[in-house]
Amino acid sequence: MSAPLRLGIAGLGTVGVGVVRIVKTHAELLEARCGRPVEITAVSARDRSKDRGVGLTGYAWCDDPVDLAVHEDIDVFVEVMGGSEGPAKQATEAALAAGKDVVTANKALLAIHGQALAEKAEAAGRVIRFEAAVAAGIPVIKALTEGLAANQVTRVMGVMNGTCNYILTRMEKAGLTYDEAFAEADGLGYVEADPTLDIGGIDAGHKLALLAAIAFGTQPNFDGITLDGIDKVSIDDIRQAADMGFCIKLLGVAQRTARGLEQRMTPCLVPATSPLGQLEGGTNMVVIEGDAVEQVVLRGPGAGEGPTASAVMGDVCDLARGFRLPTFGQPATSLEPAPAAPTSLPAPYYLRMRLQDRPGALAQIATILGTSGISINRMRQYSHSEPEAPVLIVTHKTTSDALTEALAAMEDTEVVASSPVALRIEEV
Ligand code: NAP
Ligand code: HSE
Repeated sequence: MSAPLRLGIAGLGTVGVGVVRIVKTHAELLEARCGRPVEITAVSARDRSKDRGVGLTGYAWCDDPVDLAVHEDIDVFVEVMGGSEGPAKQATEAALAAGKDVVTANKALLAIHGQALAEKAEAAGRVIRFEAAVAAGIPVIKALTEGLAANQVTRVMGVMNGTCNYILTRMEKAGLTYDEAFAEADGLGYVEADPTLDIGGIDAGHKLALLAAIAFGTQPNFDGITLDGIDKVSIDDIRQAADMGFCIKLLGVAQRTARGLEQRMTPCLVPATSPLGQLEGGTNMVVIEGDAVEQVVLRGPGAGEGPTASAVMGDVCDLARGFRLPTFGQPATSLEPAPAAPTSLPAPYYLRMRLQDRPGALAQIATILGTSGISINRMRQYSHSEPEAPVLIVTHKTTSDALTEALAAMEDTEVVASSPVALRIEEV
C-alpha cells in the first residue's frame, strides 16, 4: 500500500472541523480516489479544552501552530486559522522552510503576502494551494489555472462574499434589518472572525486580487483595488433599486487594460433579472471571460463549513495524487507587477443624497453634474417632514473620473447635508 498523506490541521473552527469531518467520514473514498490513505496526524487551536463536536483522539496536539507546521509526522500543513499576519504567516513560512506543502483557506494572507510566499515555496520546491480561499465551494482556482489555462483572460467578475450577499438578499427579500440579517449569516458560519473584513468589502477584495493574479499573470495587488463595502447601503437604496428593476450586489470586476490593472470591489446595481441579480444568500458567482472560451459562469456555495472544507480537501487530494502547480499557475518570479488603474468603462450611476430644502439647492447639484459632463437620466425628490430633502438621481453613462470630480464639488457646497451615496449601475 502507498504511504498515507499526513495532514496537520492548524485551526479547528468552522473550516478546520469541516476538514476533520470529511477525512473521518470519507476515508475509503479518499483512499480510492487518491491511491493512498489521507490521514490527520496532528492539530492545533488555541483552546484545547473546547468541545468542537468532532473526536480528536489519536491526533497529536500542538498549542503553537508553528510547532505543528514543522512536525515530523506531517507532510501537508493545512492552515485554517485566518489572519494575514501573526501565527498564520509565521506557521506557513515555517512549514515551507521545513519542506511541507501548504493548503490554506486564508485569502487575507495570500492577497497580502502571496507573492513572497509563492517565491519561498518555489525556492523550497514546495507548493501552496488555496482553492478554499476564493468562493469556498466553487472550484474557481482550478478552473482558471487548469481548464482555462490556454485562454487570454479578458475579464473576471463576480459576487464573492457570502456574508454580504446573504445580508443584502435577506434585507431585500424578507425585509430584515441589517442586524437581523447579519446575525443569520453569522449563525451559518459565513462571517469572518473580524466582520469588518466582510462588510467593508476587504474579504471579497482579497479574493479578487488572487483571481486577478492567476487570470492576468500579475503579482497579487490588493492595495490597487478600488474598494467599498456595503455599510453605506441603506434599506432605502435597496427599495429604490428594486423599484427601478435592479438589485444591489457587492460586485468585483478585474480586467487588464493598456492603462494597467483595473480592479474594483464595490456595491453596484445589477439588473434584477440577470444571473448576478438572482444570486441569493451565501451563494457566490464568478464569471470568467477568455478569448477562446468566451464566457464561463461558475455558481455555488461561497462560505460555510461543508463547502469550504470540500475545497480544502480538493487541494489535499491533488497533493495526495502527486499533482503540483505553481501557486498562481505560473512561476512566481514570472508574475508581472500590476500598476493599478481606475476603471475606464463608462457606466450610469445611482446617486442618493440629502439636500438643504431651499431655493436653488437642486439647481446647484444639476449644475455641478453638468459642469463635469454628466447628464441626468432620472431624478426624484421625495416628500419629507425633516428639513433636508431626500433626492435620488440616476445619471446617463459617465466615467468614474467625472463622477469623482462631481462628488468632490458637491462636498464643497453648503446644500449637501451628508456625503452622497454613489453606486455604479453595471451592465452584466
Ligand atoms: P474560525 O471559525 O474563527 O476558526 C479559527 C480557528 O483558528 C479556531 O479553531 C481557533 O482556535 C484557531 N486559531 C486562531 N488563532 C490561533 C492561534 N494563534 N493558534 C492556534 N489556533 C488558532 O475561522 P474559520 O471560519 O474556520 O476560517 C478559517 C480560515 O478559513 C480563515 O482564513 C477564513 O478566511 C477562511 N475561510 C472561511 C470560510 C468560512 O465560510 N468560514 C470560507 C472560506 C475561507 P480556537 O477554536 O481554540 O479559538
Ligand atoms: N466570510 C466569507 C464570506 C467566508 O462571507 O464569503 C468565505 O470566504
